[in-house]
Amino acid sequence: MLSLPGDTFREGVNHMAARESLDDLLRQELRDLLDGETQITKALPRMAKAAESGPLRSAMEQHLRETEGQIERLNEAFELLDESPRRKTCHGIKGLIDEAKEMMSELNRGSVLDAALIASAQKVEHYEIAAYGTVRTYATMLGHRNVATLFEATLREEKATDQKLTGIAEGLVNPDAVEGETSEESDREGLQVRVARTVGTAAGRAAALARQAANSIGGRGSRKQASGASRKARKSPSRRASRKK
Ligand SMILES: [Fe+2]
Ligand SMILES: [Fe+2]
Repeated sequence: MLSLPGDTFREGVNHMAARESLDDLLRQELRDLLDGETQITKALPRMAKAAESGPLRSAMEQHLRETEGQIERLNEAFELLDESPRRKTCHGIKGLIDEAKEMMSELNRGSVLDAALIASAQKVEHYEIAAYGTVRTYATMLGHRNVATLFEATLREEKATDQKLTGIAEGLVNPDAVEGETSEESDREGLQVRVARTVGTAAGRAAALARQAANSIGGRGSRKQASGASRKARKSPSRRASRKK
């Protein structure tokens, strides 16, 4: 997000050459954002489809609809600036989406992938918050108040999405929720418990590995042995320590 750099910059903006330069920069940023948002409309349906958590899926679907509206606002901003909408490759969003795609190809559908999808989506939101904060400031400084107002609306949506994702993530990794769970209960347990067991604690990871080993070996004796390892892992000091936090 652009911080107002002080009097020197303000004086520079009042100078005709600097004004032209900042105006050009605003238009460049808008092309970048238009491209970034377009990339996001293509990535979000794929990410929503990969999500196992219902709330996560619906948050992504809702944000897809918002993103379509944000593209409309960008087009409106171009119109207000008397310019035809153009796109310039947004390498930042492209890189973040590429990372999300990697996660989707490397991880199986489930709670860990959900955690990774939230992380990817929040990185995108933070990029957008920075970018829209910047163009809002440029527009305000250049006297395009109506353009700045458009981006304020988008900024509110991006920040609300980021907060919603934080809420979903906090629900996913609540170590207290692991208390007293057994593998037999796993069919009934919520996503919160499953992620906590898998990623929330070191003991949870050990237990998950033990169960995974039992499943891949497939033998009854091995399962028994592994579930013993699971129990041991659940009672380990590292888990007790993490519960005290
Ligand atoms: Fe957006
Ligand atoms: Fe967004």
